[in-house]
Amino acid sequence: MKKDLIITIFGSTGDLTSRKLLPAITKLYTEKQISENVLVLALGRRDYDTKSYLEFVSQSKSNKVVNFDVLHKIVKYHKMEITQPDGYESLKELINEHSHEHTKSFFYLAVGPEMFADISMHINTFNLVTKGDTTKAIVFEKPFGHDLDSAKAINQTLWKYFDESQIYRIDHYLGKEMIQNIMTVRFANRIFEEAWHNRSIKSVTIVAKEDQGILGRAGYYDQSGALKDMVQSHLLQILSLLAMEVPVSYNSHDVKNEKVEVMNNLTFDKHATIFGQYKGYLTEPNIKPNSKTDTFVFIKAFVNTPRFKGVPFYLMTGKKLDEKVSYIEIEFEATNEQKKWNLPLSKNKLIIKFAPYESVELVLNSKTPGLRENVQPITLELNQDDIDYGNRSEAYEKLILDITNGHKTLFTRWDEIESSWHFIDKIKARPHELVIYENYEQLKKLMKDKADVVI
Ligand code: BG6
Repeated sequence: MKKDLIITIFGSTGDLTSRKLLPAITKLYTEKQISENVLVLALGRRDYDTKSYLEFVSQSKSNKVVNFDVLHKIVKYHKMEITQPDGYESLKELINEHSHEHTKSFFYLAVGPEMFADISMHINTFNLVTKGDTTKAIVFEKPFGHDLDSAKAINQTLWKYFDESQIYRIDHYLGKEMIQNIMTVRFANRIFEEAWHNRSIKSVTIVAKEDQGILGRAGYYDQSGALKDMVQSHLLQILSLLAMEVPVSYNSHDVKNEKVEVMNNLTFDKHATIFGQYKGYLTEPNIKPNSKTDTFVFIKAFVNTPRFKGVPFYLMTGKKLDEKVSYIEIEFEATNEQKKWNLPLSKNKLIIKFAPYESVELVLNSKTPGLRENVQPITLELNQDDIDYGNRSEAYEKLILDITNGHKTLFTRWDEIESSWHFIDKIKARPHELVIYENYEQLKKLMKDKADVVI
């Protein structure tokens, strides 16, 4: 039967497919956000048929699909060696068999960046995506390369085969509700718009702590580490949304121009950087016995633009920490009056939380009720979970929907990736000590000692 939408997944037996992609597709299908007439082709070299493949997905530790009936309806497993040309002829036949003139089709590469070039070449050679065909797209999971040079090489290959308009580079944090909310909070509220600069903002902290370890992803993670896995993509994307100038317009191009400008102006405090590795990492399956891979990183960065010169941006992320929590905290300077009063006043803070729950909080000073003149911090909180429960979408749902609709705002442009790698390479190139940590307290103390900050 001919389909309106065909989603082809490379890397279908990987963690991302069972944990994120298939659940997102199932939800979009159930909620009728994507065509009911959809085919999901799961490609892999393992010897499965569709039934045994879906059994494998249902048994995988990370699977989060609730409704397997949907997957049985829309998924088809296709066995092939994705880096070899051999299987592509039969893949093409399969896709042609299910396509009509207007079928939209996208190819999702949920594989390591070392395979991007080969797969892209085969996809192009076998005319699965021809340059300029607007019904076809190709999607690349992060990381896009492992340093600036490898990222450049990948990108040159992609541009050889595809138009930029057909290329979607994923950073799933951009699909998160609260990350999309950054621009709204900044630009749609006079109180923040007026105070968004180094005269009012004292510091910015961006945290993505995880309590889990590497969850069996040794092959990828040991090559990558926390700096490249989380900072190059997710944390720098957040930083650039926070620090950018007001864009000329809110179209994708103008917003990205401003984000790139931020990344091109980044520096970091060489003496305050901390790299760590959790105790026990070396005994995780398939980790090199002498691995020096970082599972924790702390950076004190600066954005050298007139707006933010001098304001520290603390970036922190790590695995096997005390909790899974991700948030942004903007700390404002004390008021002039506050400075005069000899009271232990708290600073105004804007906190945007995106895990484990989503909220926007504003910390203000208020008089303590009663006869005395005491002041206490109060928190105004908009908890997205309370007001919007059941309505929220997972990042991957939003991103997959945008791909099917050809919306590119939430995908990274090449120059964003280029400038972020440039910064990351500079940090990586500095010789650094690797702290073996047993608990978060140890790292907290270290951040206090090195950067005088409590996170
Ligand atoms: C991924 C990283 O991009 O993001 C993982 O590769 C990390 O190592 C994950 O665990 C965190 O995403 P989230 O959405 O759970 O914060």
